[in-house]
Amino acid sequence: MSKKRIAVIPGDGIGVDVCEVGVEVLEAICSKLNLDFQIDNFPYSAEHYLKTGITLPDDEVENFRQNYDAIFLGALGDSRVPTNVHAKDILLGLRFKLDLFVNFRPSKVYDENLCPLKGKTKDDINFVVCRENTEGIYVSAGASFKKGTPDEIALQESINTRKGVERIIRYAFEYAKNNNLTKVCMSDKGNAMRFEGDLWMRTFKDVAAEYPEMEISHQFVDAIVMNLVRAPEEFEVIVTCNLFGDIITDLAAQLQGGMGMAASGNLNPGKVSLFEPVHGSAPDIAGKGIANPLAAVMTVQMMLDYLGFKEASLLAEKSVLEAISTKNVTKDLGGNLTTKEVGKFLVDFVKNN
Ligand code: NAD
Ligand code: IPM
Ligand code: MN
Repeated sequence: MSKKRIAVIPGDGIGVDVCEVGVEVLEAICSKLNLDFQIDNFPYSAEHYLKTGITLPDDEVENFRQNYDAIFLGALGDSRVPTNVHAKDILLGLRFKLDLFVNFRPSKVYDENLCPLKGKTKDDINFVVCRENTEGIYVSAGASFKKGTPDEIALQESINTRKGVERIIRYAFEYAKNNNLTKVCMSDKGNAMRFEGDLWMRTFKDVAAEYPEMEISHQFVDAIVMNLVRAPEEFEVIVTCNLFGDIITDLAAQLQGGMGMAASGNLNPGKVSLFEPVHGSAPDIAGKGIANPLAAVMTVQMMLDYLGFKEASLLAEKSVLEAISTKNVTKDLGGNLTTKEVGKFLVDFVKNN
């Protein structure tokens, strides 16, 4: 197989620490399995923006599009940039400009002690959320009028196109079909958001008609978050809009043991895609060396799988399972290792297995 090129953007806060571990594990896997990967670092972050005024140049997006197979990103968010403009340009910029229309976020329990729900086993929590990733409220369409006056008005529009809604729904059905799953649930808030809900529901029914073998359902977003806590075993594939996908997947992360466990892929199938943990820059623990790097390593696992390196991806997953079962984990999972120590454990495991 030809050389693969990975662009790494560690970003802000704990993004830097967990990315370092992710890259170490990736490098260990590459040398173990003789894989030819070129890993290049990029500085885009709050620090870089504060120093240079640059968030993410357009020609860099083109560079990623033309010369890279995947992007691995840590996290973005820093109190010194209260507008969050750099995160908007870098993270949302890459999602939009590279047309990464699927935000693929699995929720799986690796060890039932990590699940906060009483009586739920590994079999009960194993579903994926297919979050629309290029439209909705995230397009930033809107305006402020009479700002700062008592008559101030803020408009925030949610943009939904037939094409955008259809392609994420079709992705969800195809994912179910290709993975021997049969349940696809669409979630929206059509009882309050009429126009958007109408488009999502009609499109869902139209696409579902092409997959008669699937068991389809619909739940309003307030109901689905309640049901994910009450009976997570009822779900296999969830498809939803950008905003609801963001909210549902923080809850889904907790079901699998916390923000330090959840991986995600921002995908445009067949094209350069972006992989990142679901969590953010975690200012409350940044700089303390205690961030859980397992979400980042599972993100590397997802990236390897996406790029077609099955054995490498399994090795990444095995290293994470071993860290969990032997309690070589950080404080959030009940262990007492630092981020770097977990990294060392994972790298040693890869070398010796
Ligand atoms: P967060 O995910 O950063 O943190 C939420 C909670 O989870 C915190 O208590 C944190 O300590 C904990 N946590 C998160 N990741 C962890 C890990 N790997 N190990 C152990 N504990 C972990 O969410 P937040 O506090 O709402 O956001 C902080 C900043 O990150 C904000 O600026 C936000 O916009 C940004 N953010 C960025 C991304 C991204 O880059 N993809 C995602 C979410 C939030
Ligand atoms: C995520 C994050 C982002 C989002 C933020 C940082 C804009 O929360 O990737 O889940 O809302 O998509
Ligand atoms: Mn989020």
